Amino acid sequence: MKVILKKGPQSELSTLVVCFTKDKKSGKPSGPKVGSDLQKLVDSAVTDTSFSGDRKESVFYRAANIAGHTNVLLMGLGDAAKLDNECFRVVGALVFQALKAHKVTSAGVMADSLLKNTKDTAGALQAFVEGVELADYDFTDFKTKGKNKDDKKPKLEELTMIFSNAPAAALQKALQTAEILVECQNFTRWLGDCPGNFMTPTQLANETVKAAKGTGLKVTVWDKARIEKEKFGGLLAVARGSDEDPRFIIMEYKGAGAGKKPVVFVGKGLTFDTGGISIKPAAAMEEMKYDMMGGAGVIGAMLALAKLKAKVNVVGLVPSTENMPGASAWKPGDIFYARNGKSVEVFNTDAEGRLILADALSYGSELKPQAMFDTATLTGAILISLGNTHTGVFTRDVKLRKRIQEAAEKSGELMWAMPLTDWHVDDMKGTHADLCNISGGRLAGSCTAAAFLEQFVEQDIPWAHFDIAGTAWNVNSRFAYHPKKSASGIIVRTFVELAMSY
Ligand code: BES
Ligand code: MN
Ligand code: ZN
Repeated sequence: MKVILKKGPQSELSTLVVCFTKDKKSGKPSGPKVGSDLQKLVDSAVTDTSFSGDRKESVFYRAANIAGHTNVLLMGLGDAAKLDNECFRVVGALVFQALKAHKVTSAGVMADSLLKNTKDTAGALQAFVEGVELADYDFTDFKTKGKNKDDKKPKLEELTMIFSNAPAAALQKALQTAEILVECQNFTRWLGDCPGNFMTPTQLANETVKAAKGTGLKVTVWDKARIEKEKFGGLLAVARGSDEDPRFIIMEYKGAGAGKKPVVFVGKGLTFDTGGISIKPAAAMEEMKYDMMGGAGVIGAMLALAKLKAKVNVVGLVPSTENMPGASAWKPGDIFYARNGKSVEVFNTDAEGRLILADALSYGSELKPQAMFDTATLTGAILISLGNTHTGVFTRDVKLRKRIQEAAEKSGELMWAMPLTDWHVDDMKGTHADLCNISGGRLAGSCTAAAFLEQFVEQDIPWAHFDIAGTAWNVNSRFAYHPKKSASGIIVRTFVELAMSY
């Protein structure tokens, strides 16, 4: 779908979208000055359908033939004082969904009516377009073409934002930024939605190479022999039970001077997690194809940074493998050596993410980064703590926590700071090795996992860990612009903001 910015007249549009806030005092919709015919329609919406301009309220008039428009969609924005960019993102999705439901193929939004209540016009427009285009994601690659009734459904092809004055350059730029971010976030979703039998570690690496072509992003892929040579003992341990070879994907983007230290992003790329010998129960195990959403998020963010031509040096690292209970699989009691030489005793092969991240964080530390961030669908426990709204953020670095908070406020992705203390580190001590991969108790599982990761980050490197196990998929109940049963592509936009902050 294409979004276009244009100076009026709005009269040439067959479907017009007009936005209203809800006036606090009167409880009635407050909107732009429109012609008398259109105003009659608005008035009738108030009387006939109790339309008040509240958030998420909308009324669609089909074949109304008013003021030159065939159809008219009235959209509520809610209280003008409470309009933040996330509201615009949600409204974008609701506009898209309403137009789609009514099989409209092209429409125009009276842009002034959408944006007049915000000071951050560019930010609001960007968020609105993000909402529209994120809502447009549909994963149909594995449905036979021509055999589904959905194939014939009309699609919204074009959305024109009509301004009364020529849109400023800043608005064109906001549109462009939104398009790049969403393209990359939707790619991240696609990587995750692909099933485990297709999106193997080899395929994940191939798709990354393919997507990076022409973007200025350099991609290097290590095969199993190289991973062995580099002593990635954690990644190799997890990969033992699978017939699929592991991969280590390295993405480099240089947008700043050669001497400038990079910002490093690390993402868990577990393409399917059965739990291994400590096998998971059957219920909902199919969701474990999403256990590579951290890696997919890093890939999406790296692509976006290259396409946005960000002025920063960034490295993305994705260790990738399956966790399977094959004949050579790793077993409880086994001890392995990670890249930094630390020994790890395995008490549960389902706590595998931390082992593959350990090697990647050690390697990332060797790059002497300005800062390092990792993200993973690491623990079920984070779902218990934070549900499916907030990503858990773990860092002891107060300054970094503030920087993350600011980046997340810009991206609109919800984050919550979690504790990471020496107690949690104590819980991860091994019996016969330096570390154990699970803690003795079941308590604070997300915090002890973060404490384990911390043992592989060299001291003095500002580092934070993002647990996205609760926010990486099936979050439509909370966010209208995310798909119902699909990956969310969370973290892409926050990682882009974070990188840009250096
Ligand atoms: N990939 C899972 C975490 C997960 C669980 C993500 C549910 C999304 C939904 C991870 O590898 C895992 O299995 N973690 C274990 C750790 C435990 C054995 C200490 C968990 O959370 O149960
Ligand atoms: Mn697991
Ligand atoms: Zn896992």
